[in-house]
Amino acid sequence: MRVATSIPDLSTLLNSIPRPLGLVPTMGALHDGHLALVEKARRENQSLVATIFVNPTQFGPQEDLSGYPRDENRDLDMLRQHGVDLVFAPTAEEMYPQGFDTWVDVGALGDRLEGAHRPGHFRGVATVVTKLFGLVRPDRAYFGQKDGQQLAVIRRIVRDLNLGLEVVAVPTVRDPDGLAQSSRNAYLTPSQRKAAPVVYRSLCRAKTLWSNGERDADKLRAEVRAGLEGEPLVETIDYASVAHAESLDELDQASAGAMVSVAVRIGRTRLIDNLILE
Ligand code: PAJ
Repeated sequence: MRVATSIPDLSTLLNSIPRPLGLVPTMGALHDGHLALVEKARRENQSLVATIFVNPTQFGPQEDLSGYPRDENRDLDMLRQHGVDLVFAPTAEEMYPQGFDTWVDVGALGDRLEGAHRPGHFRGVATVVTKLFGLVRPDRAYFGQKDGQQLAVIRRIVRDLNLGLEVVAVPTVRDPDGLAQSSRNAYLTPSQRKAAPVVYRSLCRAKTLWSNGERDADKLRAEVRAGLEGEPLVETIDYASVAHAESLDELDQASAGAMVSVAVRIGRTRLIDNLILE
């Protein structure tokens, strides 16, 4: 496995790489969720590039950029063991040199749900992902369903800007108790960690209602909230949404393919999760 930290080194190493080429962008602090993306990309492509970059432009001023978990040596070991050919792990200066001032603005899709609570977040995500696509020029790029809105945003960028690559979604990897794996789970205290599966359980309550024939989206949202409100360690519910998975428009009537999503705060940790109704 080769590691490039500069753009010229990345370009040189990419010259000799066979196609099709799969790309897995990450911010490091890797867990089994990331590895599911890597494994799928490994199976489906001749070559596999992963990136590790804690992208400063997608963090708000009050967010956890400086405290975001980092362990690059461990990450590199994990990627090596999973057959990654090339890792791009640039510095912030390499990605955002002096004078950088071009942004990918994702419009309404980036303003709702997560975007409403994290202003500018999706502009940062869209910009860095577009840069990574330009730098690596993959045939396919892999993203987790865990970040359902991010997936919708990236699909839209690829479509609207004709980026000519395939976006592949990978199902959410969960701990045995249902908690979606996330680098931020490391912030939870033991008692918060015990409470956290309420997020997934609440989504499942809505899914059960749906399976029993309920189509009123307000009832599904209320069911999710009722589940979350039963857990005293859930301090804030930022949203409980039933939305079209691509447009992210809130629905009156739920339909197959809709995304039920939530964001909550447990202590200082913000957790997000979602389920697709089938
Ligand atoms: P990060 O949070 O490191 O996640 C990298 C990729 O792993 C994303 O596509 C995310 O959806 C996926 N992922 C995370 N947890 C997952 C889980 N439990 N199951 C399945 N997939 C999971 O998302 C980002 O980084 C950044 O925003 C990035 C796209 C790299 C741009 O900076």
